[in-house]
Amino acid sequence: MLAGRRKLDMRLSSTFFVSAVLTSLVQACPSQGKFGFIPAKPTDLRSPCPALNSLANHGYLPRDGRNLTIRQVLQVSNDVYNVAPALLLGVAKLGLLTSNETDTFTLDDLKLHGTIEFDASLSREDFALGDNNVFNESIYSTYANTNPGVGYYNISSTGQAMFQRLAIQERKNTQITNTDKEITFRSFTAALPLAVFGNVTTGVAPKQFVDIWFREERLPFAEGWTTPPCAIDTTSLPPLIASVQTASNWTGGGCPYVRTGPTAAPTLDSQAVCQQLDSLTKGK
Ligand code: HEM
Ligand SMILES: *[C@@H]1O[C@H](CO)[C@@H](O)[C@H](O)[C@H]1NC(C)=O
Ligand SMILES: *[C@@H]1O[C@H](CO)[C@@H](O)[C@H](O)[C@H]1NC(C)=O
Ligand SMILES: *[C@@H]1O[C@H](CO)[C@@H](O)[C@H](O)[C@H]1NC(C)=O
Ligand SMILES: *[C@@H]1O[C@H](CO)[C@@H](O)[C@H](O)[C@H]1NC(C)=O
Ligand SMILES: *[C@@H]1O[C@H](CO)[C@@H](O)[C@H](O)[C@H]1NC(C)=O
Ligand SMILES: *[C@@H]1O[C@H](CO)[C@@H](O)[C@H](O)[C@H]1NC(C)=O
Repeated sequence: MLAGRRKLDMRLSSTFFVSAVLTSLVQACPSQGKFGFIPAKPTDLRSPCPALNSLANHGYLPRDGRNLTIRQVLQVSNDVYNVAPALLLGVAKLGLLTSNETDTFTLDDLKLHGTIEFDASLSREDFALGDNNVFNESIYSTYANTNPGVGYYNISSTGQAMFQRLAIQERKNTQITNTDKEITFRSFTAALPLAVFGNVTTGVAPKQFVDIWFREERLPFAEGWTTPPCAIDTTSLPPLIASVQTASNWTGGGCPYVRTGPTAAPTLDSQAVCQQLDSLTKGK
C-alpha cells in the first residue's frame, strides 16, 4: 500500500516534472507566444537602436516602447543578447538623460541628438537631414553592399562602411558632428552586431542575421540564430571595438559634448570650455 502510494506519487511528480519542463521549454521558445515577433503599431514608440526595437517587437521590452527602466533594459539585453550589464551601463544611464521622467524613458526619447544619438550611423539619416530615428534602407545599403558576393560582414567590411558613411555625410551635412565621442559610439555600435550575431573574437557575422535585425527589427530565431554562448562583456568586446575603429580609418576632431536633457539649451555643452582649453594648449 505504502509502496503503491509512493509509486503513484512518483508518477505524479514525474508527470509534473515532465509537464513543467515542457511548459518551460514552450515559454522559453522565443519565436512564440509572449515573445513572438509583432511589428510595431503606429502608436508604439521606437528608437534609433535596432537592438532595443527588436526587444520591444518581441515583447522582451514593453511593446509600446514606454516606461523603460535602466535595470530592465540591462536585464533583457543580458538575457537575449548575452551582452553584459557592465558593458551597457554607461549608455543606459545616458539614455535616461534623454527623458523628462525621473526614472524611466521611452524608446523614442533616445533619438535626442547629441546624447547618445550621433551622425553618420549605419542605418539612420543624420538629425540635420532627415529622420534620425527610423531605419533607412538607402542609408543602410552602404553597409549591405560591403563584402559583395560573400555571406558575412567582418571587421574590414564594417570599417569600410563606417568610412564610407562618414564620407557621404560629411559631403551632405554641413552640421555634422564628428568628434572622439561619435567615433567611440559608432565603433561600439558597429562592433556589437558582429559579436551578437557572429563571433566576438573574429568579428565575422552572417549577413542574413544582421540584415533581418536591422531591416525588420526582428530577432532571427527562425533562421537559426540563438543567444551567443559566451558573454559579450568588458573583456571580450573592447578588442573588437578597437579593430573596427582602426579599420574605419576615422579622422575627425572638435570638442565633444553631451546633451544632458530634452530641454537643455540647445546643447548644454562643454564646447566653450573645450575650445578655451584647446587654445590654451596651442598657445604653449
Ligand atoms: C545589447 C544591447 C545593444 C545593442 C546590441 C545595440 C546596438 C546598436 C546598434 C548596432 C546601433 C547602431 C545603429 C546604426 O548605426 O544605425 C545602435 C544605436 C543606438 N543605440 Fe543601441 N544597442 C544596445 C543597447 C543600447 C542601450 C542600452 C541603449 C540606451 C538605453 C542604446 C541606445 C542606442 C541609441 C540612442 C542609438 C542611436 C545611435 C545612432 O545611430 O545615432 N542601445 N545600437
Ligand atoms: C509611462 O510613461 C508615460 C510617459 O511616456 C507616463 O506618462 C506614464 O505615467 C507612465 N506610466 C507608468 C505606469 O509609469
Ligand atoms: C520634455 O519637456 C519639454 C518641456 O516641457 C518639452 O518641450 C519636450 O518636448 C519634452 N521632451 C520629451 C522627450 O518628452
Ligand atoms: C533616407 O535616406 C536618404 C538618403 O540616402 C534621404 O534622402 C531620405 O530623406 C532618408 N529618409 C528619411 C525618412 O530620413
Ligand atoms: C573580410 O572578408 C573579405 C571577403 O571575404 C576578405 O577579403 C577580408 O580579408 C576579410 N577581412 C578580415 C579582417 O578578415
Ligand atoms: C585605410 O587605410 C589603409 C592604409 O592606407 C588602406 O589600406 C585601407 O584601404 C583604408 N581603409 C578604408 C576603409 O578606407
Ligand atoms: C569564435 O571564433 C573562435 C576562433 O575561430 C573560436 O575559437 C570560437 O569558438 C568562436 N566562438 C563562437 C561563440 O562561435
